[in-house]
Amino acid sequence: MFATVILLCLCFWFILLQLKSRRPKNFPPGPPILPVLGNMLNVSLKNPLKDFGRLRRSYGNIYSLFIGPRRAVVISGVNAIKEALVTKANDFSGRPQDQLINDVNHRKGVVLADYGPGWREHRRFALMTLRNFGLGKNSMEERIHGEIKHIIYTLEESIGKSLTPQVMFHNAASNIICQVLFGTRYEYDDEFMRVIVRCITELSKMANGPWATLYNSLPMIRNLPLPFTKAFRNAETCQKLIRDLVIKHKKTRIPGEPRDLVDCYLDEMEKRGNDGSSFSEEQLVMYALDLHFAGTDTTSNTLLTGFLYLMTNPHIQERCQWEIGQVLGGKDRVSFEDRHKMPYMQAVIHEVQRIANTVPLSVFHCTTKDTELMGYSIPKGTMVIPNLTSVLNEEGQWKFPHEFNPENFLNDQGEFVKPEAFMPFSAGPRMCLGEGLARMELFLIMVTLLRKFKFIWPEDAGEPDYTPVFGITQTPKPYYMKVQLRATQ
Ligand code: HEM
Ligand SMILES: *[C@@H]1O[C@H](CO)[C@@H](O)[C@H](O)[C@H]1NC(C)=O
Ligand SMILES: *[C@@H]1O[C@H](CO)[C@@H](O)[C@H](O)[C@H]1NC(C)=O
Repeated sequence: MFATVILLCLCFWFILLQLKSRRPKNFPPGPPILPVLGNMLNVSLKNPLKDFGRLRRSYGNIYSLFIGPRRAVVISGVNAIKEALVTKANDFSGRPQDQLINDVNHRKGVVLADYGPGWREHRRFALMTLRNFGLGKNSMEERIHGEIKHIIYTLEESIGKSLTPQVMFHNAASNIICQVLFGTRYEYDDEFMRVIVRCITELSKMANGPWATLYNSLPMIRNLPLPFTKAFRNAETCQKLIRDLVIKHKKTRIPGEPRDLVDCYLDEMEKRGNDGSSFSEEQLVMYALDLHFAGTDTTSNTLLTGFLYLMTNPHIQERCQWEIGQVLGGKDRVSFEDRHKMPYMQAVIHEVQRIANTVPLSVFHCTTKDTELMGYSIPKGTMVIPNLTSVLNEEGQWKFPHEFNPENFLNDQGEFVKPEAFMPFSAGPRMCLGEGLARMELFLIMVTLLRKFKFIWPEDAGEPDYTPVFGITQTPKPYYMKVQLRATQ
């Protein structure tokens, strides 16, 4: 009897040892790994920030974590991140491919596509299309100014009252992308928008939650009818809406005269014919969803952070308004070119992006081959988490790393300078492909609104709380703002 128990125990122990994920040789350090769970007990899913802070303090700029049996490496600091994402770009530009979210998007689109020809062709196409969007009536600037009119209506209706700007900015960012993608804008209560926003919100919640972690760590449960099947249903609903839009475009388009990105894509598909390229209608559907998703929360959360800090730092707001008045004079509206004459405004917008830290851990990367970083060995297929937060407030890189201060981007002559550690869009070949669009949006929207309105923190709103709500994209806590028309208008 006793011998059997001992034998059973030994067997059990042996199985546990087999299941245990081991650190490969010369792998970056990290907390001890438990069988099956990895380091999941070291990081609380609800509020991981404190635990991450602790891990970074104990292990330094490069440490490893096991998410279930999956190897991950967290990289911090400008030097380590540059070495990985820029110097060794070829080794570090993959995306993890065995996640719930990959199955949901059928491995299509661009944000989560692995490093390869399909990703490269679609990235190049998006950059080219965004850049080429004609001058004149259809230009990007024109589309953004068109949307700003709607923000102004909303603000004018609220003069003297308090309003919550969340929905307004979210709506604006979403509409600018929709104009580019589909040539249409949608009211926020439009059925199409409501369904897409609901699906995306539920999907992002699910992608961070415990069911996704289980799905990612235990392939054998993937076909069971567990709550993650809802993610697939949601994605299907979204895809169907976009598919219908593509069908409509095919009926009404004039080849060679694209109205929007969908038309450009259909032209490109015709041009390529059957040359074996990765362009297809199914790709287009995921691609459009990707670009909409990537361009909405990011931009609107940055704007929300911007106006929070401008309201609570009235002297900075006034100095922007003074500069805007000087440069624009009687001109009827601002153009993106004017930024070169507005060093202070530029510094403020960049400082807002630095403080907003909108995508704190970037989008996760993955190594494409066995490689090395800072003297450690990192095998192929390791998940790589670039800690952008650590660069945006790194000591030694900024004059004022821990406070909101536009001087971070101004030299002694008051000229605008951009330190190397300014990386809210990440770096290397995977860097945000919407950077140009995002910067144009932030500049035109902030300048136009500051020129016309004064933004005031309501007297009854208490002390502002600057702590952001953590997520794939970070956002400030909901707040109220008051607006007044400016006398000089
Ligand atoms: C302030 C606004 C924005 C911020 C802070 C931001 C930030 C980022 C970051 C950190 C990444 C991950 C880069 C990496 O993996 O290393 C990314 C990727 C991406 N962003 Fe943005 N983004 C913004 C706006 C936009 C907009 C407006 C678009 C729409 C066109 C967009 C489209 C994309 C796409 C398609 C990718 C994936 C690129 C790839 O995997 O090759 N982003 N963005
Ligand atoms: C991680 O969790 C394990 C198991 O709960 C614990 O023994 C260990 O001390 C933790 N390590 C850190 C750095 O939190
Ligand atoms: C990233 O760096 C910041 C600042 O050093 C730290 O507070 C945070 O916990 C780090 N995050 C991770 C995932 O290591």
